[in-house]
Amino acid sequence: MKTNLLLQLCFTALLASQSSAAPDRPEPPTHQRQAVRPRANPMPANLVPVPSQLGAPLTGLTPEQAADFRAGMAEFENVESPDGGLGPVFNNVSCVHCHADGATGGGGVVTVTRYGRLEKGVFNPLTEFGGTLLHQNTINLGVREDIPPEANLIAHRQSTPLFGLGLIEAIPDADLQRAAAQPPRDGVKGRAAVIQEVATGQMRVGRFGWKAQQATLLGFAGDAYLNEMGVTSRLFPTETAPNGDTAPLAIYDTVADPEDQVDPETGKGDIDLAADFMRFLAPPPPGPQTPGSTAGRAIFQQINCAHCHTPVLNTGANAIEALNKKSVPLYSDLLLHDMGPLGDGIAQSAAAPKEMRTSPLWGLRFSAPYLHDGRAATIDEAIRAHDGQGQASRDRYLKLSPTQRQQLADFLRTL
Ligand code: HEC
Ligand code: HEC
Repeated sequence: MKTNLLLQLCFTALLASQSSAAPDRPEPPTHQRQAVRPRANPMPANLVPVPSQLGAPLTGLTPEQAADFRAGMAEFENVESPDGGLGPVFNNVSCVHCHADGATGGGGVVTVTRYGRLEKGVFNPLTEFGGTLLHQNTINLGVREDIPPEANLIAHRQSTPLFGLGLIEAIPDADLQRAAAQPPRDGVKGRAAVIQEVATGQMRVGRFGWKAQQATLLGFAGDAYLNEMGVTSRLFPTETAPNGDTAPLAIYDTVADPEDQVDPETGKGDIDLAADFMRFLAPPPPGPQTPGSTAGRAIFQQINCAHCHTPVLNTGANAIEALNKKSVPLYSDLLLHDMGPLGDGIAQSAAAPKEMRTSPLWGLRFSAPYLHDGRAATIDEAIRAHDGQGQASRDRYLKLSPTQRQQLADFLRTL
C-alpha cells in the first residue's frame, strides 16, 4: 500500500513537472522516473464523457449549442440541387450520402477517386487536367470528367467517420508539434502536416482527412462543399473547372459564386452549419471490456502500435465547455507517417505520396472495411498491410500467437 501511494505521489509530481511550461526546469531525479515507468496506463483525470448512443451530441452542451447541433445535422442531411449550386461536376448530393454508417456522420463504403502522374519518382498532380480528385457525377451530360490518359496512378479513398471530430479540432498544434519533434523510436517518426488554414491564412497543423490535409472543421466543410458537391462558398469561391477546362462553366454553372450564401440573420452559411454539426458530434461509445480485451490492451503497448496510435491526446482551453481540457481516447498521434507501399501515392497538402495520417482507432468496430481504400475486410488484414514505418510493429504482430492476435483484435473492438 505504502509503495503504491509513493508511486502515485511521484507520478503526480512528474505530471506536474511535465505540464509546466518552464523549459529549463530540471529533469526529475532518475529514481523517480524509473519508479513511474511501470504505470503504463494511468486513467486520464478528465476523460471526455461519451453518450452510449452512436451519433448523439457531446455531453454537456448548452441549449444553444444543442440547437446548433440539430440545425447543423439538418444541413448535413440536406440534398443539394443544381438551383442551389450543386455541380456542374460533383461526387454526391449531400454530406450524409457518404457519411452515414451507424448514424448520420458515420463513415461509408463509398470511395472517391484520386489520380496523378508519377514520372521518375516525382508526383505530378495534373492540375491542368483538373487533378487530383475525380468528380464522378454531373448535373448535365454535356459536361463531365474523366481520368485523363496522362494519369498513370489512381487511388481510392473511403469516407471516414466524423464522430468526435470537435475534440480532435481542439487539440493544440503545439502538442502535435512536440510529439513530432521526439527522436525516432523503433524506426517511427511522425511529421506534423503544417498547412495554411483557408479561413484565417495562418499556418496550422492539419489533422483531418487521410492526408491530414485540413486543420479545422470549417476548412474541411468548405473543401467538401466544393469538391464533393460543387458548391462554392466564401472560403472556396472558385467553381471546379471540369478536367481543368473553364469553358463549360459558362454554359452549365448558372448560379453566381459564392453559391453558399451567409444568412444575414444568423451570420452562418451552410459550411458553418455543417461544421457546427461535426464539432458537437460525440465520439463513438466504447465497447464492453472482456478478459481478452484487457490482455489485448497490454499487447497493443508491447508491440509498439501505440508509437503511432497514441491512446490519449488532450484538448486545450476552449470556450466550449464540452471541449475544454478534455482527455480524448482517439488512438492516433494525428501525424503523417511514411507507410511505404501502403501509402496511396498521392501528394496532397503537406503529405508526400507515401505519407498517411495515423488513423484514429476509436469506433473501429463500426467502420469496416479498413484502410484508406477499404482493402482490408478485417482488423487482422489491416494490421498485416502496415508497411514502411509500421513494418517493425507489424512484424511483432506476426510473431504473436493466434490467441494473442485475437486478444489484440478484441481490444481494438472495445475502442
Ligand atoms: C462523395 C462522398 C462524400 C461526400 C458527398 C462528402 N464526403 Fe466527407 N469524406 C469523403 C471521403 C472519401 C473522405 C476522406 C477524404 C480524404 O481524406 O481524402 C471524407 C472525409 C471527410 C472529413 C475528414 C474526417 C477525418 O476523419 O478527418 C470531413 C470532416 C468530412 N469528410 C466532412 C464532409 C462534409 C461536411 C460533407 C458535406 C459538405 C462531406 N464530407 C461530403 C467522402 C465524402
Ligand atoms: C508508423 C505508424 C503506425 C504504427 C506503428 C501502427 N500503425 Fe496502424 N495505421 C497507421 C496509419 C498511417 C494508418 C492508415 C494507413 C492507410 O489506410 O493507408 C493505420 C491504420 C490502421 C488501422 C485501420 C484503421 C481504419 O480505420 O481503417 C488499424 C486497425 C491499425 N492501423 C492498427 C494498428 C495496430 C494494431 C498496430 C500495431 C501492430 C499499428 N496499427 C501500428 C500508422 C501506424
